[in-house]
Amino acid sequence: MSAPNTAQAHVPSSGSGSITGPHVLITGAGGGIGRALVAAFRQTGATISGADQVLAGMNDLDLDHRLAFELTDAVACATAIEDLIGERGPPDILVNNAGFTRGETLGQVDQVVWEREIAINLTGAFHVTRPVTAAMAAHGGGSIVFVASVNALGHYGNPAYSAAKAGLVAYARSIAVESGEKGIRANVVCPGSVRTAAWDHRLAKDPAILEDVVGHYPLGRMVTPQEVANAVVFLASPLASGITGAVLPVDGGLTAGNLRFVRDVIERRG
Ligand SMILES: NC(=O)c1ccc[n+]([C@@H]2O[C@H](COP(=O)([O-])OP(=O)(O)OC[C@H]3O[C@@H](n4cnc5c(N)ncnc54)[C@H](O)[C@@H]3O)[C@@H](O)[C@H]2O)c1
Repeated sequence: MSAPNTAQAHVPSSGSGSITGPHVLITGAGGGIGRALVAAFRQTGATISGADQVLAGMNDLDLDHRLAFELTDAVACATAIEDLIGERGPPDILVNNAGFTRGETLGQVDQVVWEREIAINLTGAFHVTRPVTAAMAAHGGGSIVFVASVNALGHYGNPAYSAAKAGLVAYARSIAVESGEKGIRANVVCPGSVRTAAWDHRLAKDPAILEDVVGHYPLGRMVTPQEVANAVVFLASPLASGITGAVLPVDGGLTAGNLRFVRDVIERRG
């Protein structure tokens, strides 16, 4: 079921506000949040194109179309997007979800780590977004959601990744401002810690790490992949038709303030 590729697909329908079968392209579809995105968009009746580094990572997913490309390879991205548009038409919705980090603190960020994390998380998203935005503009509009991170909003480690994610916020705003008149919206979701494969390397080193993580969250827990996906679906949908250039934390309250400061400095001494 595919929606018309017109700006009308992004205007609220009378009352229900539900998505009525647009074509969604999701990068990093085989990852933890990507899988939740596929499931959440499936529930809306969307036609889903999933992209990831290798096709094998998406074998078990309920997708209408699969694309495999390395985000840092500009030519591979352009070719894959061109083929997708040729076969399925331009996406009505693009979710830039793929991401990667390993350098945890400044001391661990050398030239190689810096360039790799900027290349995947920022330039990689640009490689996909540029041709999709052009196609959306030519077909009356669309909606783009970037999955950034709380690292875009404050420092929680991973300096190069954080710089890249903050760059996504700036990039989304530039699209929102310059492409709004073409019917294109661009918004950002900033998840807090989510238990996905992205945590496997840290858990392998320290199986108790998540117990320390949750203590920083006002909700007393990490957010789930589904909660991130819900926010993305909302921002992509007609319910958010007046929202563009927005940055929405889905972070259990992490960026609302400093819970440990309140407890240790104010409450305990009160
Ligand atoms: N898990 C968290 O705690 C957390 C917190 C904040 C933000 N995020 C962001 O959410 C998004 C999804 O993360 P996740 O937790 O599902 O991680 P994940 O590791 O489960 O999934 C990431 C996906 O991106 C793909 N990917 C990575 N590098 C790629 C490359 N060079 N080319 C093509 N594809 C590539 C992977 O193959 C994978 O499918 C990422 O952008 C991540 O930065 C995650």
